[in-house]
Amino acid sequence: MSGATILDGKALSKQLLDQLAGRVEACKARGATPCLAVVLVGDDPASKIYVRSKERRAAKVGIATADHRLPATTTTDELLARIDELNRDDAVHGILVQLPLPAGVDEQRVLRSVDPRKDVDGFHPDNLGLLMLGTPRFVACTPQGCMRLIEHAGVDPSGKRALVVGRSNIVGKPVAQLLLHANATVTIAHSRTQDLEAEVRRADIIVAAVGRPELIRGEWIRAGACVIDVGMNRVDAGGPKPKLLGDVEYEAAAARAGSITPVPGGVGPMTIACLLANVVSAAEQA
Ligand code: GUN
Repeated sequence: MSGATILDGKALSKQLLDQLAGRVEACKARGATPCLAVVLVGDDPASKIYVRSKERRAAKVGIATADHRLPATTTTDELLARIDELNRDDAVHGILVQLPLPAGVDEQRVLRSVDPRKDVDGFHPDNLGLLMLGTPRFVACTPQGCMRLIEHAGVDPSGKRALVVGRSNIVGKPVAQLLLHANATVTIAHSRTQDLEAEVRRADIIVAAVGRPELIRGEWIRAGACVIDVGMNRVDAGGPKPKLLGDVEYEAAAARAGSITPVPGGVGPMTIACLLANVVSAAEQA
């Protein structure tokens, strides 16, 4: 039996997208249709799915997208040239370079080349630096989505113990900063953490973003904790389609948590809604 409130990211993202529609109309009325350029290099199947769902959602709220598909053989210089064109194009308000990039492409150089005012993913060092200083411009979409879900759960992080599991540049590190700015006492656990169970057991808020299926056991969850599961692990379950599992053992965690995000339908839809919110902000400021 689940005692937890299920944090429905699909419903919450819909609310957010509905709120965006009016702002999109206002941009259009002054002749600036918000436009997101989506750059996808190579043919990573998961990336193709993500990109398609970002573009579909954008169309639903009236945001234009410009698709830039490049072959897996694209060099760093070729990609930089394409980004330079997009940086100069006044009709483009946001630029998203889907990660991961093929091996051999210099990801850091690429992310640094995006105009920080069009960096709706919030991955440019300027934007990560502004976040660190507590004066953010664009906040990375998944971390922003996590914070909106925590707020929606009615949980104020102030004074609480927050545990972030995972230290990636795109989720773990920025979400830890956001929790810190919300006055949580923040711990970041990672692959070298000695006793993950002990860390989980004392956490009031857990953000799991490691990409390891069900690494976090349900029985470790503190009673009443808020659990945000960023994991999207495709696991072969012997059936025709792989099963999508989070980083948290869902059923057992839901029996103990105060609130928990499902996988899928939790963080995923929020990430897309936050991306599109960033695109609209970029268009408003252009
Ligand atoms: N790959 C996995 N997550 C993301 C994301 O949020 N943005 C981009 N650009 N690539 C990703």
